[in-house]
Amino acid sequence: MLEFNWKNVDEAVIGKEHGINVKKEFESYKGKVADIVSDIYSNKSTAGKWLAWMNLGYNEDLIKEINEYAQSVKGKFDNLLVLGIGGSALGGIAVTEALLKPYWNVLNNDQRNNMPRIFFVDNIDPDQIQGLLDVLDLKKTLVNVITKSGSTAETMSAFMIIKEMLEKEPGADYKNNIVATTDIHKGILRQIADEEDLKSFIVPDDVGGRFSVFSAVGLLPFALVGIDIAEILKGVRDMDKALSNTDINNNIAAQNALIHYLMDENGKNLSVMMPYSSRLRFVSDWYVQLWAESLGKDKDLDGNDVNIGPTPIKALGATDQHSQIQLYNEGPNDKLINFIRVKEFDNTLEIPKVFQNTGISYLGGKTINDLNNAEAESTKVALNDYKRPNVTITLPKVNEYYLGQILYMLEVQTAIAGALYNIDTFNQPGVEQAKNYTYALMDREGYEESAKTLKQKINA
Ligand code: PA5
Repeated sequence: MLEFNWKNVDEAVIGKEHGINVKKEFESYKGKVADIVSDIYSNKSTAGKWLAWMNLGYNEDLIKEINEYAQSVKGKFDNLLVLGIGGSALGGIAVTEALLKPYWNVLNNDQRNNMPRIFFVDNIDPDQIQGLLDVLDLKKTLVNVITKSGSTAETMSAFMIIKEMLEKEPGADYKNNIVATTDIHKGILRQIADEEDLKSFIVPDDVGGRFSVFSAVGLLPFALVGIDIAEILKGVRDMDKALSNTDINNNIAAQNALIHYLMDENGKNLSVMMPYSSRLRFVSDWYVQLWAESLGKDKDLDGNDVNIGPTPIKALGATDQHSQIQLYNEGPNDKLINFIRVKEFDNTLEIPKVFQNTGISYLGGKTINDLNNAEAESTKVALNDYKRPNVTITLPKVNEYYLGQILYMLEVQTAIAGALYNIDTFNQPGVEQAKNYTYALMDREGYEESAKTLKQKINA
């Protein structure tokens, strides 16, 4: 299992001004946390509660369906192109970056076990999209278009460009190159998929975009590039069982949620996610969305104006020791740093004993692994010296099982934190507002009034 260590937020390590008495706080929040955990777990399957993501680990039928489809297209495509944005892309990027061999897209076929390269378009930069289209042979590309709402302008505009290109080449059979992931009934992509008889998978009801990584949104692209999705879900299930424990002393998601909540009360409302593993760097991007969209809210559940939410920040060890750590150590003491550590890397890389009579000879005979470890440990000690709170999540290895565990743990942590803040964790009115403004500015039918006001505001 994952390990979670909170000792560096304790006042015994970083002092009373910036730290908390962790055991005492766990004791005083014991009842409240137990209520929250049991409420979340007992509502997993309640319609309208948006907790159906907690059931995704148990969907054996979906694993079977996805693996069958992946098998049916195996060897037919050189590339997988995923179109999606936000929750429809970030989990996919995080997991494939973590689990595929590094530099996957430049490996040859054998090195990729005859699995396709993978590309994500999660932005609307015309130069980037054109650049990708210039290098991709679309005939040999399977396009997975993912949008829960079925109408997101960024995703659908890229899809429209690509669909038209596919219709020209390969032509008549173009439908074989497209697989859609969207709502079962609603939305424009659903309508298109049904009308055009496209192969499609479902984003289940009551699963928000940022909580959808273990649905077909993530599992389909993972299986298509050869990632063992059953093993990911095994990790999810084991973590799900562990986190159903209502005793905060035995529930690491509840512990980190409460620590963040109390740190925020103590003026530390920036949550830094800092893995010491390049393969995990996009877990931070995924976490940033999860934390920001879920917890940044203007009203609480009682209708009070609160404008709350800790701001998530992404960082990467050891790289950001040479960028952000100066600020973390000596700037405002307003951050809680989440380290992610990996116990055992797949490789051990020895540093040769060269340059013996120079100031770098001490490195010779050590390993890059030793250096990574030493840098992570020394950064932690320096933060403690400066009385900066930090917690550590440790993965025994970067593999399917533990990645399932950590992502699921962070999802449950977010749900518990939202309950502590007494806000609606699962809505995103701020995102919808921007989406609606875009529709209006791009002349979508039904948005005429809004377009008029908007144009006035822009030209004011
Ligand atoms: O988490 C969310 O709800 C959002 O980030 C969505 O995932 C994002 O806006 C994309 O939406 P859709 O999947 O409808 O295209």
